[in-house]
Amino acid sequence: MFNKRIKIKDLLTQEPAGQEVTVMGWVRTFRNSQFIALNDGSTNNNLQIVAGLGKFDDELLKRINTSAALKVTGTIVPSLGKGQKMDLNAVTIEILGDSDAEKYPLQPKKHSLEFLREIAHLRFRTNTFGSIFRVRHALAFAVHKFFNDKGFVYMHTPIITASDAEGAGEMFRVTTLPFDKTPRNEDGGVNFKEDFFGRSTNLTVSGQLEGELGATAFGEIYTFGPTFRAENSNTARHLAEFWMIEPEMAFYDLEDNMNLAEEFIKYIIKYAMDNNKEDIEFLAQRLAEEEKQLPQDKRSEMGLVEKLEFVLTNSFERLTYAGAIEILKESNHNKKKKFQYPITGWGMDLQSEHERYLVEKHFKKPVILNNYPKEIKAFYMRQNEDGKTVAAMDILAPGIGEIVGGSQREERLDKLEARMKEMHIPAEELWWYLDTRRFGTVPHAGFGLGFERMVQFVTGMTNIRDVIAFPRTPKSAEF
Ligand code: 4AD
Ligand code: MG
Repeated sequence: MFNKRIKIKDLLTQEPAGQEVTVMGWVRTFRNSQFIALNDGSTNNNLQIVAGLGKFDDELLKRINTSAALKVTGTIVPSLGKGQKMDLNAVTIEILGDSDAEKYPLQPKKHSLEFLREIAHLRFRTNTFGSIFRVRHALAFAVHKFFNDKGFVYMHTPIITASDAEGAGEMFRVTTLPFDKTPRNEDGGVNFKEDFFGRSTNLTVSGQLEGELGATAFGEIYTFGPTFRAENSNTARHLAEFWMIEPEMAFYDLEDNMNLAEEFIKYIIKYAMDNNKEDIEFLAQRLAEEEKQLPQDKRSEMGLVEKLEFVLTNSFERLTYAGAIEILKESNHNKKKKFQYPITGWGMDLQSEHERYLVEKHFKKPVILNNYPKEIKAFYMRQNEDGKTVAAMDILAPGIGEIVGGSQREERLDKLEARMKEMHIPAEELWWYLDTRRFGTVPHAGFGLGFERMVQFVTGMTNIRDVIAFPRTPKSAEF
């Protein structure tokens, strides 16, 4: 058996008492031909390994370069140096993998996030990305724990589908048809009967429609999977491939839905804060350093930890779309014409500058906006009595903007069919979706949380490309 190592994170919780251990990891630094800082990815804290002078071959010592992989066995003793409580006095050092110091692109110094994006395959070996991806893991684990503990069924909805769940047409096509000899119909259109699935298919933009089928049998389900949007948005909040969590619940109205979403967000933040304190504190420090470069008025009012604690202890502001338009219209910001898109009045779609004004300047906390005009929302949302609005809700977070989109669903077959017709959604293709409204329809609701935006919020990273391992964005699919 090869793997008898102890993880550095666990080792550091022990008292140094001469115990013999084996550790494995990658060299961060090697000083004075004697002190190796070894990192194994379990924590940002390196283990200091002391390679006693004269105890090891020069040939071996020469190979202890930054990022070489080592297996070290020795005894744990109290450290004589400052900054760590223990040293590993090496008895044997085995080089598992060499690293060419001349060619290794990461040096023990500060690199810009932009540079690290170009070497995303190696950036996990930095403290910043170590922390981000451990926090990402904790949040993902907390998602499953939250829903599992509530008795929700985790449902795997398909990645290849024939439907456009959001009706927004931002889909990546999936096909095996050749580009050069595309089979044609008599009218010149593509003959999808010849395609792999015998029809036109795409990558899913959302698992919601299938999720509703699950909810109307299990009561409460959630999905957690990759979703794809071919929207050409080159922003710090958009990815072409992102992960979404979509709970869907029978017997829920809009208010129940908002309550669950708020409880859920608070739960996963708290889980990460309790279980990844060190990483979050590291990221808080990093953010504070980064913000020192900004002019005073661009800096956050709260530090990262303070912000997260604030979110946990305060209730989210709930406000109707109409109320939001009133606030925005009356704002000095609008009167002084500081919005790129001026507030024209009820009915307009909110831009991210408006959302951010509401959460960052006006309320200074997360806001749940609800009851939007039906014209700017998807076909499946429940129509309100006023005939103008739908039972939709978006959660807006400071520094991020929209983090959750959801609604109570239209469970009345006649109303749903009428709305689909108005919006040119092909009912014949969604016959299976409409069946839920034919056989035991119930009030139900759900929402989608953009996982990367959530990770951004908890890690304080301003660019979404830095919270997913290998970002897919317009004109970029490296790695
Ligand atoms: O608001 P959206 O489009 O809602 C839906 O897809 C619904 N079917 C969800 C539901 O009710 N089950 O997307 C939900 C969330 C957004 O609030 C945002 O956080 C995230 O998904 N999102 C993106 N994240 C990263 N990159 C993109 N291009 C995103 N588009 C949406
Ligand atoms: Mg949305």
